[in-house]
Formats: sequence, structure tokens, C-alpha cells
Amino acid sequence: MKRLYGLIGILVLFLGFAFVHGRQQDHAQQQAVPTVGILQLLSHPALDAIHKGIIHGLAEEGYHVGKNVKIDFQNAQNDQSNLKTMSARFVNENAAAMIGIATPSAQALANASSKIPVVLGAITDPKGAKLVKDNQRPGNNVTGVSDQAPLAAQLDLMRKIMPDLKTVGIIYTSSDDSATAQYHQFVTICKKARITLKAYSIANTNDLNQVAQQMVNEVQAIYVPTDNTVASAMQTLVATANAKKVPVFPAVDTMVKAGGLATLSINQYRLGVETGKMTAAILKGKNPATTPIHFERTGEMTVNLTAAKKLGITLPASVLKEAQAHGEVFK
Ligand code: TRP
Repeated sequence: MKRLYGLIGILVLFLGFAFVHGRQQDHAQQQAVPTVGILQLLSHPALDAIHKGIIHGLAEEGYHVGKNVKIDFQNAQNDQSNLKTMSARFVNENAAAMIGIATPSAQALANASSKIPVVLGAITDPKGAKLVKDNQRPGNNVTGVSDQAPLAAQLDLMRKIMPDLKTVGIIYTSSDDSATAQYHQFVTICKKARITLKAYSIANTNDLNQVAQQMVNEVQAIYVPTDNTVASAMQTLVATANAKKVPVFPAVDTMVKAGGLATLSINQYRLGVETGKMTAAILKGKNPATTPIHFERTGEMTVNLTAAKKLGITLPASVLKEAQAHGEVFK
């Protein structure tokens, strides 16, 4: 009898230990699920596509939302004070990594922490925006993916579609670092190509209609850089331009889908995928300081046939063929 009690006693002890041990393991697993904070500046089709791509890229590298990674997604609705509070929130919840979609988001995150890795989600000019010391050797807790568009090739495409092109207007938001960086590059590119470039800057979407009205009377074609404000109001610009039969050539595919005529575009979704993959590598221990910025150099031919029809433009056969074979055709 004594022996039986003894055995029961040992069994109870053992079960108790197993229970406590199991709970400890659960706890460890809970803590081991890293939080990734994603801060998106505002909603427009390009940034939304990048966000989707990020989730896909994380999954491709083994991080599945709700399973072994927690995503805290915040949309700042283009508001500076939101950017600040949302960045502080990620730091408070001890995020394992933070991703900034668009330059102001990345800047807010980098200001909020010099320790937590910050991954740039499609930032045009990381060095110019003072996010990294050097694109090859970022040096601090910040690295990521750049969406720098192939501007010279895009101007070449405009001239191919409009052989008589002499005067181009560029529209951009003066406070948008991404757009102004491209504006400065475009000035040099147009000079070299002996194209007259007229600049039209806006402060916000309220200006867009009036500035567009003036612009369409003064230029043969409109170029739109990766400008977050214009990207969120493409319809306004396109309606005004189409009414005057002035083609709009945007920097990216999502803006062609929104009514622009054509471009050689970096695929926005794929930028997100690359950002997600880089974030996964950092979660696995890669050091941002020594991880070079990833650039996607080659663009895909992207055309909008409805826009061409509205403008009365016949796209060169080679352009259309290339878009059908390797790019995107929107109807
Ligand atoms: N590059 C922009 C920035 O740094 C963000 C961006 C990515 C974007 N893709 C875009 C803006 C397309 C306008 C259109 O802020």
C-alpha cells in the first residue's frame, strides 16, 4: 500500500511538472512570435500594392501572418502627427522590425528608433532623404528597397510614342521628397535630350485641378513622378488632360492603370515582395547596417489602351508587342 501511495505521489509530481513546463513553453512561443510594424503614408494604388507584396514576401520566406509573425499595420492618412504617434506605438510594443511605405513614413520610423531595424518599402532616394549614409553600406538600423524609376528610359518611350515631342510638363508636390528628387533628375535628362521641361508644383490635392488646367494649355505631354499626392488623385489629372488630348506619362504601372497612357514601370507589387523578403532576412538576424539598398533597375512596358483611344493615339506596334509579351496591357 505504501508503495502504491509512493507511486501515485511520483505520478502527481511528474504531471505537475509536465503541466508547468508546457505552460512555460507556450509562453516562450508566444514571446517568440515577432511583431512587424508596417507604417503606410496613405492609401493610393501603388502603396496598397506594395503593402500586399510585403505580406507575400514575408510568407515566401517562411513568415506567415497570425502564425509565426504578427503584423501591426497602420495607415497615417497622410498626416504628420499620425506618423509620429504610430511610430512611437511600434517602439512601445517592442516591434522586431518596422517597415515604412513611402519616404515620410520611413523618416518617422527612423526618428523614433535607432535600434529597431527599419526597412524601407519603396523609397526613391534613401540617401537624399537622409535615411542611410550610403546605399551600399547603410551604416545604421535602416536599409530596404528603392523604387527609383528608370527616368531616361521613360522619356525615350514618350518620344517613341510622340516623335514630335518638344515640350513636356512635370507635375509634382513641393513637399514630396520622392517627387522632387525625380524632378531634379528629370531636368538633367530633358536638357540632354533637348526637350523643354516646364515645372508645375502643387502644395496638395486642392491645387491639382487648377494647375492641371493651366498645364494642359502649355505642354504637349505630362510626366508624373512617383508623387504620393498626385498618385492619390490621378483621376482629376487624367480627366483634365484627356479633355485637351494631352497624354499623361506616369512613372509607375498603377498610375497607368488609373488612366495614364504608358510607361516603363518597376512593378509595385514586386517592390513589396522584395521588401517583405528583406524584412524576413533581418528577422533571421541579418544586419541592416551592412545590407545594401535593393534597387530594381529595369522597367516593364505598361500601356493603357482606353487612354490611347481617348487621346486618339496609336501606340507603336513594337511598344504594344513588348507590353503584351513582358509587361502589362490595361484596357
Ligand atoms: N517612392 C515613394 C516615396 O518614397 C513612394 C512610392 C512608391 C510611390 N511607389 C509609388 C509614390 C508610386 C507614388 C507612386 O515616397
